[in-house]
Formats: sequence, structure tokens, C-alpha cells
Amino acid sequence: MIEFKNVKKSFGERTILQDVSFKIPKGSISFIIGKSGEGKSVTIKHIIGLLKPDSGEVFFDNKDITSLEEESLLEHRKRIGMLFQHAALFDSLTVYENIAFPLRVHTKLKENELNDKVMEVISALQIEEYIQKLPAELSTGEKKRVGLARALITKPQVILYDEPTTGMDPLICEMIDKLIVQVNDQNKDLTSIVISHDLKAALDTAHQIIMLYQGRVHLSASPKEFLSSKDPIVRQFLSGDANGPMKLA
Ligand SMILES: Nc1ncnc2c1ncn2[C@@H]1O[C@H](COP(=O)(O)OP(=O)(O)OP(=O)(O)O)[C@@H](O)[C@H]1O
Ligand SMILES: [Mg+2]
Repeated sequence: MIEFKNVKKSFGERTILQDVSFKIPKGSISFIIGKSGEGKSVTIKHIIGLLKPDSGEVFFDNKDITSLEEESLLEHRKRIGMLFQHAALFDSLTVYENIAFPLRVHTKLKENELNDKVMEVISALQIEEYIQKLPAELSTGEKKRVGLARALITKPQVILYDEPTTGMDPLICEMIDKLIVQVNDQNKDLTSIVISHDLKAALDTAHQIIMLYQGRVHLSASPKEFLSSKDPIVRQFLSGDANGPMKLA
């Protein structure tokens, strides 16, 4: 579904992505991991077309998106749903209207057709109870569900989660990890990409783990292969030890 081929990206003198290549299969859940500052967010910005590589190519559904003009980029972005760290809901709109919003902007559906679609995701994410509430009345976990419902309402082909659980308590983390799997299972062919520091979530949830290190893909493997890797950098990442061969800055 997505392929990076020798992507290089620098900001001024600083090269963040040296030579990044990986493939993400359709329908899979892939985690992109790596320590802070490795370029995880920079990588997903290339998928949405917010950044362009200095060299190399980014393929989305077999199409190179690096040369798209602004208009085609807007079309391209409609195929991608994003769940941000803070759900970024509209405070003055009810849960229902938050979820309906992308359809009101992007489609000309009749009210009853729109209602059917909104109710479909609301039921899939089990948030019927609070459709008339305002975001301020929701807990963090509930807001996440609503944010996810809003990201899914336009039936994206790919959903990107940038650190969906960072800074949250373990119960909510667990709930969100389960939700990622549930949503991926419920939506045939949906490709899920998760950026995370949460190694446990990656090991429990991912089909594929892509580990970035020093501007390259250090390892792209299944959780099982990842766990059994003898690579010293991977071992250090798994153990969380500050001492070891991994360069921390
Ligand atoms: N638009 C930009 N201009 C200049 N430097 C940038 C820009 N975007 C990112 N960077 C730099 O690129 C590096 C990688 O940033 P990125 O946000 O991708 O890290 P990350 O792996 O997502 O880290 P974290 O886990 O902390 O979110 C950082 O040093 C950052 O300062
Ligand atoms: Mg980041």
C-alpha cells in the first residue's frame, strides 16, 4: 500500500532521513518506532504529502506521490485518516456533529444518508451514549474514540496514528491498542500505521515493526523476529537501557 524508496530528507545542514526504504502491505498494522527525534513524524508527513523528500520516492497505492501538485495532494489526503495525539475535536460541536463534520465539508449527502453513515461508525466504536455531549464532557479515552470515529467517517484507505497513547494511563493505552486492532479488523483493506514509543503495544499489536535509527530503517520485522533479534541496537531498545551501543543524540 505504501512504499518508501531511498527517501532522503534534510532540514538545512541536518539530515534527518539518510536513506529510508520500507514497504507497508495493504490491510496491515505497522508500527514505526524509534527514539525521540529519529524522524518518525517527519516520515509520516511524507505519507500525507506535507513534506517532500530531497531524493527518493514515496508510493501510495503504486503511485509516486512526491510529484503531485497541490490539487492532487488534496485528493490524496482524503484517502488518509489521521488521529492526532490530542483528539483535536471542535469544542463547540456535539460528538455527533464532530463526526458528521468531514461529510458536511466533503460531500453533498442528504441528511438521512449522512445520518446513516454517522450512526454506522458511532455503533462500530460503541459511542452511542454520548453523541449529544460536547467534547468537554468526555474523558480522554472517550475523546479518542470520537476522534477515531471522525477519522473513519470518510472511509480512508490508510489511517495514521501519531503517538496515540503517549502520556496516557495504562488502562487507556490498552483500550486504544485494542481499538486500533478492532478498527483494522472491522474495515477490510484498511492499512493502519502507528507511530509510538510504546514497545509493548507494538509487540502486542503490530503485524510489522519498522524501527528507525540514524536516518535509516534499522529493522523491519514481525514482533516475533524483533524479539528474537540479536542486533545490539535492537536489544538495547527492547531493554530500555540508557547504556549501550545506541547513540542517544
Ligand atoms: N519542519 C522542520 N524544520 C526543521 N527541522 C525539523 C522539521 N521537522 C522536524 N525537524 C527535525 O527533525 C528531527 C526529527 O523530528 P521528528 O518530529 O520526526 O521526530 P520524532 O521521531 O517524531 O520524535 P518524537 O518521538 O519526539 O515525536 C527533529 O530533530 C526535528 O527538530
Ligand atoms: Mg514525533
